[in-house]
Amino acid sequence: MLLLKDFIIENIHKKGKITFAEFMQIALYHPQYGYYNSDKERIGKSGDYYTSPTVHKIFGELIAKQLEEMWRIMGERKFTIVEMGANRGWMCYDIFRHAQKEYPAFYEHLHYIIVESNPCVREKQRLLLESLHLIPDKKVSWHAYAEHGFSFDAIQGCFLSNEFVDALPVHRIKINKGILKEIYVGYNDKEFIEIEDGVSTQELKNLLKYYQIHHLKENQGYEINLNAIQWLKHVSEKLHKGFIITIDYGDTFDGIYRGNNSNGTLRCFYRHTVNQDYYEHPGEQDITAHVDFTSLMNAGKTCGLKKTGFAKQSHFLIALGILERLNNDIDTVLKAKNLLHPEGMGTIFKVLVQHKNISNPHLTGLRPLHSITI
Ligand SMILES: C[S@@+](CC[C@H](N)C(=O)[O-])C[C@H]1O[C@@H](n2cnc3c(N)ncnc32)[C@H](O)[C@@H]1O
Repeated sequence: MLLLKDFIIENIHKKGKITFAEFMQIALYHPQYGYYNSDKERIGKSGDYYTSPTVHKIFGELIAKQLEEMWRIMGERKFTIVEMGANRGWMCYDIFRHAQKEYPAFYEHLHYIIVESNPCVREKQRLLLESLHLIPDKKVSWHAYAEHGFSFDAIQGCFLSNEFVDALPVHRIKINKGILKEIYVGYNDKEFIEIEDGVSTQELKNLLKYYQIHHLKENQGYEINLNAIQWLKHVSEKLHKGFIITIDYGDTFDGIYRGNNSNGTLRCFYRHTVNQDYYEHPGEQDITAHVDFTSLMNAGKTCGLKKTGFAKQSHFLIALGILERLNNDIDTVLKAKNLLHPEGMGTIFKVLVQHKNISNPHLTGLRPLHSITI
């Protein structure tokens, strides 16, 4: 998109160079031309990629099952779900529809806050949820999340997200001849270029001290998601009591960088193909990096969140009973397979559950699977 490219170039000219996180912020979230602020379909068959809620409703239904158990653990009181980056509202729809049918007492106590930065999808969410009579019953409300935090009071319940964290802008760093460097984006009057220089913020330096720079591999590209850490701190401020379920692709820090990915995990998705041409089609393709769940666990510890458990998506869904729910409907079986398969979403996607002000909760989705191998 030419206008967006010009806007990025103008920014680079003003500052000399911008961090990769700034580039990604503009490409994905420019108010007019950003990838995620568009009316265009980004997810699903006519978009660039699929997400679990768009694969099959069974995903949202099993999340509803887990949420209902959390509600019971918390004493069956008012329970607020805050969904980050809900996009068209598919998961919200599946959770409510399943709760109405299977868990009427839970449904009575349920309130849902949708936090989605794309203004173009609000009407689509409203239309989708209308058939469940949620809006006249004031079951759903909409709020914003920005740098200073959330626009609602503290809740009891659960913060929930699927593929939200991977969509947050990341800084890129590497060690070059023993010296810590950040990768910036410049422009040479023909094309975008990458420039290595000292790291841009103290926050980044502090975080890297934690990872002990000398343990980082020479010339390995790393993505650092400061926005995710900041977001988790804001979540903790607004969670009086309850859980946080973060579902995304990624792994622990060691798990991500153990493998053969010396350029890091940054990828672009464009019409169901993957590429590493980050500077092509700005505003027209998704840019995303694997989620470093270790950083979320560590950040959680510093702001009063305890780790309930961490599992592969396949483990979580099997523990919640996905296999028992597969009937002879071939369509359900094939789609569920995508959610579970080691080479599909089953292994690469992880579920991190954290909790606050609850003592030692045990959740069905995190129970050990003695009898089933995945
Ligand atoms: C990869 S999509 C995932 C959509 C959906 N959760 C799903 O699984 O299909 C990421 C979503 O996060 C939203 N998002 C990104 N930053 C946000 C923010 N600061 N506040 C609210 N939503 C945000 C994007 O607009 C986008 O809809």
